[in-house]
Amino acid sequence: MNARLDDTPRDTPAAEGSLLRFITCGSVDDGKSTLIGRLLYDSKSLLEDQLGTLEADSRRYGTQGDALDFALLLDGLSAEREQGITIDVAYRFFATPARRFIVADTPGHEQYTRNMVTGASTADVAVILVDARKGLLAQTRRHSTIVSLVGIRHVVLAINKLDAVDYSRQVFERIDADYRVFAAKLGFASITSIPLSALRGDNMTEAPSANTPWYRGPSLLGHLENVEVTAPAAQGPLRFPVQWVNRPDADFRGFSGRVLGGEVKPGDAVRVLPSGRTSRVARVVTFDGDLDQAAYGRSVTLTLEDEIDVSRGDVIAAADAPPAVADQFEATIVWMDEAPLLPGRTYLVKLGTTTVNGSLGTPKYQIEINTLEHHAAKTLQLNDIGVCTLTLDRAVPFDAYTDNRDTGSFIVIDRMTQHTVGAGLLHFALRRSQNVHWQAVEVDKAARARLNGHKPCVVWLTGLSGSGKSTIANELERRLHALGARTYLLDGDNVRHGLNKDLGFTAADRVENIRRIGEVATLMVDAGLVVVTAFISPFRSEREMARRLVADGEFIEVFVDTPLAVVEQRDPKGLYRKARAGELKNFTGIDSPYEAPESPEVHVETTRQSIEDAAERIVAVLRERGLIG
Ligand code: ADX
Repeated sequence: MNARLDDTPRDTPAAEGSLLRFITCGSVDDGKSTLIGRLLYDSKSLLEDQLGTLEADSRRYGTQGDALDFALLLDGLSAEREQGITIDVAYRFFATPARRFIVADTPGHEQYTRNMVTGASTADVAVILVDARKGLLAQTRRHSTIVSLVGIRHVVLAINKLDAVDYSRQVFERIDADYRVFAAKLGFASITSIPLSALRGDNMTEAPSANTPWYRGPSLLGHLENVEVTAPAAQGPLRFPVQWVNRPDADFRGFSGRVLGGEVKPGDAVRVLPSGRTSRVARVVTFDGDLDQAAYGRSVTLTLEDEIDVSRGDVIAAADAPPAVADQFEATIVWMDEAPLLPGRTYLVKLGTTTVNGSLGTPKYQIEINTLEHHAAKTLQLNDIGVCTLTLDRAVPFDAYTDNRDTGSFIVIDRMTQHTVGAGLLHFALRRSQNVHWQAVEVDKAARARLNGHKPCVVWLTGLSGSGKSTIANELERRLHALGARTYLLDGDNVRHGLNKDLGFTAADRVENIRRIGEVATLMVDAGLVVVTAFISPFRSEREMARRLVADGEFIEVFVDTPLAVVEQRDPKGLYRKARAGELKNFTGIDSPYEAPESPEVHVETTRQSIEDAAERIVAVLRERGLIG
């Protein structure tokens, strides 16, 4: 899927045979650990020195000259650590003379959907374990759905513990038949059922075992050694997301990254996205010298014949088959965080090597993983899967996930915690974003400011209910008006009677409340006004969003700081009493959080300052900043 979700090595030095990545799905009860243990043990005796840990493996890549790959790998891993991802996927490496293998092993319980998605996202084959005594279970269906969702096309149904049912051919054939009926709608290219006893070794490395003379198919290891897998992207057009630009000022200007679609050779006509500029590949450079051609999966540095602008995050693509460029998409989202998705919140969206601001809409539907049914949903909780609209603040090159798993997927990162909170698969671009353009106007903000005799800005008051926001805002507007400034006051209680009367106090509704206020305040700033807003605005993320909507220096955050004990004591509207009595849900400070500003432009402590002093202090800050005369 995404480089940052999974940065295990992908390249395969040809001399060692091909590399197969597979995932095992099942639980300890199904005998998964025994199965993996036996594969490792048997292959170990075949090729002792090929075993290695992740680091040992990458070191091997390093000594074989692909130093970049090692660097990329470390880059990815440290990034993952910095982000505090707690994804629990164990990768094991083993090899036989025929092939090398990376197996992703993930815990199988329901709550580990996110782990499975991570492990499955780069696998070519899924080995789905079934206990012969139990047959198909809900979890078999769930694993299969996830596997199909992330684009794995080859499935092995490992029907295990056959020894416990006397190696019954009937049991094996019934499970196989049931599974084929269920999986018909999942679109797998191949399903291979194998009767196994991982514990006793039946059909693990040789087939048929003496206990299953009726079985005509391959052993598990034999099948994994021979199964033909090609990523659709390997046969597709060139995709080369630029990881970094080498020495942009020197004679040598190279673009480093990994070939994530098709192949590349000197002379190829290429187009750089999103700029659309074209050139030809001059050289394909590696640590060991130039190549005549670099295949899918290879890490290289490209130089171009023309001096054109290329930066990190751009995609160098086949000139005649470039990816589309868009800023709004339909996407499947797997939610991975304890805190639910907040539609409309600005998250960081990382697509390959680019990171942009973006938001997700209210889900169009949620996918019930056991039955594939669609349900209506307002949000996505941990491990939920749904389909949403993704809107980015600038256009990026992309492919559909079904065409290219790398350039068609993204991860969602919380701006505040820096945690990875979701993963997504792109379906297609939505037309709307391409057809709605910004209308240029002749009378602009600066012209209006000149006429008004002062600059526009937003004075954003935030604090608990009853902290004194509205009172201070009112006093502030009175003073500004008296000074001749054009003002407007947006107040929480009032706006909730009109523009936002459809919104309540759930986290999602508060995000939308503040998003709308941010947009309205921005229009008013454009109109040249000093806008004063008085909303609890409890979340840092949305206050940051409102700040980013206006120009630098135009956003004055005022923290109206009154301790909870004091506002509860004052309780002007009797709401705290109701909230404590359980008659009012989601009340800020009681059962809904308030995230205090970390560095507001103005900090008002109402227990020490009068309303007048607070208003005067804000006026003084506006003067100091040259916003008013
Ligand atoms: S915000 O959280 O979305 O910014 P906003 O400032 O618009 O809130 O509205 C807060 C006002 O709504 C409070 O001053 C209070 O009068 C009223 N209110 C009603 N229910 C709640 C609640 N559950 N939490 C907070 N305020 C509430």
